[in-house]
Amino acid sequence: MNIIKAHNLACPIDGARFEFHEKQLVCENGHVFDVARQGYVNLLPVQHKRTKQPGDSKEMVAARAKFLNSGLYEPIATKLAEISLLQITDTQVTGKWETCLMDAGCGEGYYFDYVFNYLKVKKGNSKLSFIGLDISKAAIAEAAKRNKQITWIVGTNRQPPVDGESVDIIVCVFGFQSFEGFNKILKPGGRVILVEPGPDHLKELREIIYTEVKKSDPQDLSCVEEMGFSVADSQRLKFKTGDISNEKIHDLLLMTPHFYRATKEGREAAANLQKLDLTVDVVFRTLKKSNDALIIDTAYSTCL
Ligand SMILES: C[S@@+](CC[C@H](N)C(=O)[O-])C[C@H]1O[C@@H](n2cnc3c(N)ncnc32)[C@H](O)[C@@H]1O
Repeated sequence: MNIIKAHNLACPIDGARFEFHEKQLVCENGHVFDVARQGYVNLLPVQHKRTKQPGDSKEMVAARAKFLNSGLYEPIATKLAEISLLQITDTQVTGKWETCLMDAGCGEGYYFDYVFNYLKVKKGNSKLSFIGLDISKAAIAEAAKRNKQITWIVGTNRQPPVDGESVDIIVCVFGFQSFEGFNKILKPGGRVILVEPGPDHLKELREIIYTEVKKSDPQDLSCVEEMGFSVADSQRLKFKTGDISNEKIHDLLLMTPHFYRATKEGREAAANLQKLDLTVDVVFRTLKKSNDALIIDTAYSTCL
């Protein structure tokens, strides 16, 4: 695989093109962004932040890295990599063109690094570039340690700092979805691969931390169909983890929104568990953007 440095980053302030200097990105209008020591770039200007430290905290990032590195969710990563391969092959006209993949809300990079390594083996001499984006600086700082060939950026899915119609495949794994942002940066015919919890996901844990457990289906996508997306593929992956330890239960809870939604009693009950056999239930849906060129709104507002 021929890895290309992503050259389609755009200034988050005015959308202008960047010139790459060794330790800085400088836009045509003079806005300067430093490359951090770890190799990532923070393209989240203060006017795009809704809180001082948006996104996942250092503790959540550390818990997620520990849990994912144990390999318990590897079947999800494998499935995502297989679907990504299928969609790349489908979107590539000839091996001549570069294909740009982006992980929108990549967290500490486990899944995108896995996809990268899988495609490295499977895609031979294709030209690929990879952009991992997350609003959490702590998450991107971790991700940058995992893989030096992926372009890691701190930014928001609401206004990804990437040129309009320049990305072929967006993956969004349990992430914050912004179809307006995705639509802007996707090429016509591009894909969004959504990975979301299925109805039975972690049901054994939810039965412990909540007083009432609802079976919720993944969100209805009719609104995105109105934006010109169609569902091209839908798959479900369901498996049991086998008994996992108290420490892993703690890490799992901390890396999900359940930690904050659970009742105090629920969190205490989970903390007292010695082991738990969990159902993992995940839905993968691939959306295809219409091939008709859409009008791209290039006006950059302070925040969408
Ligand atoms: C549940 S985590 C999933 C992380 C990763 N995809 C994974 O599955 O390991 C959600 C991620 O979305 C990020 N996030 C939240 N709001 C965001 C936004 N507006 N733009 C980009 N990322 C965002 C959080 O910082 C967090 O890393």
